[in-house]
Amino acid sequence: MIHQFNLPEKTIYNAAGCHCTTLQDLEDLQFSQAGAIMTKSCTLEARDGNPKPKYWNNEEISVNSNGLENLGYLDYLEYFKNNRDVDTDKPFILSVAGLSLEDNITIIQEAFNAGVYAVELNLSCPNLGGVPVSQDIEQLDYYLKSIVSSTNYENVDIPLGLKLPIYTNKNDITKVAEIVEKYDVAFITCSNSMPNCIVYDSYVSFDGEMSITNPLKNIMGGLGGKFMKPIVLGQIYQFRQALSLLNNTRCKIIMCGGISRGFDCLEGEKVGANYFQIGTALDINGTDIFEDIIYGVDDADGPFGPDIEEVQDDADVFDIETN
Ligand code: DHB
Repeated sequence: MIHQFNLPEKTIYNAAGCHCTTLQDLEDLQFSQAGAIMTKSCTLEARDGNPKPKYWNNEEISVNSNGLENLGYLDYLEYFKNNRDVDTDKPFILSVAGLSLEDNITIIQEAFNAGVYAVELNLSCPNLGGVPVSQDIEQLDYYLKSIVSSTNYENVDIPLGLKLPIYTNKNDITKVAEIVEKYDVAFITCSNSMPNCIVYDSYVSFDGEMSITNPLKNIMGGLGGKFMKPIVLGQIYQFRQALSLLNNTRCKIIMCGGISRGFDCLEGEKVGANYFQIGTALDINGTDIFEDIIYGVDDADGPFGPDIEEVQDDADVFDIETN
């Protein structure tokens, strides 16, 4: 079976990790304008994650050293089962970040059994130490081979996608595209946060005292926010190119990074993105951000909703119809 990840055109939803850890978070998404619900990347057992404080943002950037705080996969699947028939029902995507290959297989198998809409496998968590699997291409191949065969993916009508890290080496992008083609990965999400960054919250107070504080207990964390946009546009462009060389036009690419208004999504479409995830801007603004992006808050936003055809004419760098 060929797997398809087909959401309505231009679907916008939350990035894994943003406003999706608690059941209340998921309910907020359910009643928002988000076009799908993504969970926090989950593990076999519930986790508290890294010590607090482990998140900080200003208007431009966010930094997190969350450490996979999550309820455990069973609670997320339970939420899905309890809510799938309500009238605000939306595609439910389980983000999976098991701590071992075996854990990932177990969680994905259970997600398939539960009938989730899709699984986004996250092998790029930067906050656990060690080399994330997705940065080690041979390991990534081995993981996917094992997961695909152990879960009988070929015969399961549920798409599996990959949350990818930032690849600064073109050769890695070529090899990951080959893996995507080889194992019928239905979508890739570009990209995870920029790992191992240090942010200082620095300011001079009214009485002239300077304050320089590192907001994270763990010192370093994954960076997200507006600066990510040029990075992810480059990632998407290169992946579209690499996939098209393999004649793969069915893999959907989800833009994740630096989106805070409709124009950002249009730029993503130019380089071949199909759908859009909101991270830092969701943390900053709450779930109203979906409505703001879809309809625009002022003229400068550019329409991403009803009028989009008007600005679309020469939008696509690639003349590729995904299907
Ligand atoms: C965490 C951070 C990530 O960027 C990720 O992809 C998964 C988990 C975290 O620290 O919880």
